[in-house]
Amino acid sequence: MSQHETGDQIPSLSGYSEAELDQAFAGVLREVETSAAALADSDAVEAFRLQWLGRKQGRLKAISDAWLAPAPVEAKKLIGQRFNVLKSAIEERLERAGKATHTNALEAERIDITLPGTQPRVGAEHPLIKTQNELLAIFARMGYSVGVGPEVETDYYNFESLNFPPGHPARDTQDTLVVANQDRKPLRDRLLMRTHTSPVQIHTMETQAPPVRIVIPGKVHRNDAADATHSPIFHQLEGLCVDTNITFADLKGTLDHAMKELFGSSVKTRFFPSFFPFTEPSADVQISCPFCGGKGCRKCKHSGWIELLGCGMVDPAVFGFVQQKQPAYDPKKISGFAFGMGIDRIAMMKYGISDIGLLYSGDLRFLEQFG
Ligand code: DAH
Repeated sequence: MSQHETGDQIPSLSGYSEAELDQAFAGVLREVETSAAALADSDAVEAFRLQWLGRKQGRLKAISDAWLAPAPVEAKKLIGQRFNVLKSAIEERLERAGKATHTNALEAERIDITLPGTQPRVGAEHPLIKTQNELLAIFARMGYSVGVGPEVETDYYNFESLNFPPGHPARDTQDTLVVANQDRKPLRDRLLMRTHTSPVQIHTMETQAPPVRIVIPGKVHRNDAADATHSPIFHQLEGLCVDTNITFADLKGTLDHAMKELFGSSVKTRFFPSFFPFTEPSADVQISCPFCGGKGCRKCKHSGWIELLGCGMVDPAVFGFVQQKQPAYDPKKISGFAFGMGIDRIAMMKYGISDIGLLYSGDLRFLEQFG
């Protein structure tokens, strides 16, 4: 039988001379090498180990049984030496193959950290929120805190406590959306969608003794038909400052500074007499057109000025309503100013948005431009 035969059969020894033994063992070693060369993964390595070193079925055990056991005493040492060399050779192949498959497994899991990553889709701040945050930051730097209030209000907070008595014509300037089925309640308790953020002035003063410096952003609702400059829902920023010795000069300085912060230091402000029931005196504020520097352009309708907000000194009558809950608002001891501006208008000016509807459309093609 050939000594080079592989498989379960063990070739028998042709003799016990060193040359014959060397030849027989060399044949087995070639077999080992052939099977070790094809070890691709850890399963194959384990199969190789069992095939050669398995305690019961292993080929090394079979060779030992076939060659060593029946050998004459004087040949056992020669066979034993060669047997040990063969065993070491098998173990060495096994170790090498084990390392290689481990490296393969790591290689398969390797990631290339130089590849570009998966880009997450990052949201963009809505232009209204962006403008609102900018305004809040400007007033925060002047020591104002931020407040909020309910969008569904009572007639008392939206109108009466702000010195719009029942039936007062000033109510007609704010086309109001009222909540249904309120008729059986006294007028002051009837619910409506707030038409301005001014009621939060009253809530604030009722819960906080002076001094107060607060800005209140929020949604307001009016029964207006939608067009390029009107939306039934829009946003206002209310401001309120109450302390001892607050004067109209403080109001002018505060708003002039805020407008310069918002539109640039070359912007000027001017104040015109106006009317709001809850302020006395009241004023409308115009800013010099930030687009043409006041020379006159399409944006300022060639006047050089743009009207942007309303303001005034808090009317003592308003403090009177607040005093029912918070006596510290004594108009003989304290004074204050208030202002209100449309956030949508300011956002549209700042970002060159010509239709207010875009702010509420949810159209990603519009919103993505602010990313
Ligand atoms: N609430 C007013 C409006 O919606 C805006 C306003 C004007 C608020 C003057 C104020 C103010 O606080 O002092 O038309």
